[in-house]
Amino acid sequence: MNKQLIVALSKGRILDETLPLLADAGIEPAEDLGKSRKLLFDTNLPDVKLVVIRATDVPTYVQLGAADLGVAGKDVLLEHGAEGLYEPLDLEIAGCKLMTAGVKGAEPARARRRVATKFVNVARRYYAEQGIQAEVIKLYGAMELAPLMNLADEIVDIVDTGNTLRANGMEPRELIASISTRLVVNKAAMTMKHEHLKPLIERLRAAVAKRR
Ligand code: ADP
Ligand code: PRP
Ligand code: MG
Repeated sequence: MNKQLIVALSKGRILDETLPLLADAGIEPAEDLGKSRKLLFDTNLPDVKLVVIRATDVPTYVQLGAADLGVAGKDVLLEHGAEGLYEPLDLEIAGCKLMTAGVKGAEPARARRRVATKFVNVARRYYAEQGIQAEVIKLYGAMELAPLMNLADEIVDIVDTGNTLRANGMEPRELIASISTRLVVNKAAMTMKHEHLKPLIERLRAAVAKRR
């Protein structure tokens, strides 16, 4: 049986916080991830390999079993859906909020609100739950620009310090979800490789607890 474990890491802002946590759990990349164009890395553990991929691709890799474990933002998981995934551990890093936001002082006037976001599934679900009619417009970044350019009445985006909203004359409105980074595990691997996965998950759990 294949006892190799592949861990899919989100590149970008989560990665910098993930690596120290992995190190605390006894997993260290064999080379500097930042200095390489490689995407697949050996670690100090002969049976553990790391792949570094777009944050939004992590759930797909883990769900389809290309990776056994993954590190992904709850925002990404909410948008992707949890089918085929277990979420055994909150890594308690990259904390932020998924919120609606609009131009400061402006009332959302139209009956059918235009909402710009990269989180289209989350947004559709949220507005439906609120009983608000919404036309969801998919963007890939710089959501904060959309209301200023009259592309949308509102956005659904990540808010941390609120600096990006403020800098663009906008204000946070409703909280959709509190976000942090989660460990996800392929459901089949959790059964098939349980003996192998369990100690690794527990070492990560201890590393998270040590930081509280
Ligand atoms: P992307 O290029 O997809 O925006 P990022 O590296 O910026 O990727 O973000 C990856 C993850 O980091 C997000 O899915 C979210 O969970 C978290 N995150 C995003 N923005 C912030 C922020 N301003 N503060 C803290 N965490 C954030
Ligand atoms: C994220 C997010 C917001 C901003 C929120 O953007 O999309 O724009 O951070 O953080 P703040 O409340 O502290 O300002 P990011 O910097 O990741 O840029 P991106 O558009 O490339 O994702
Ligand atoms: Mg970002």
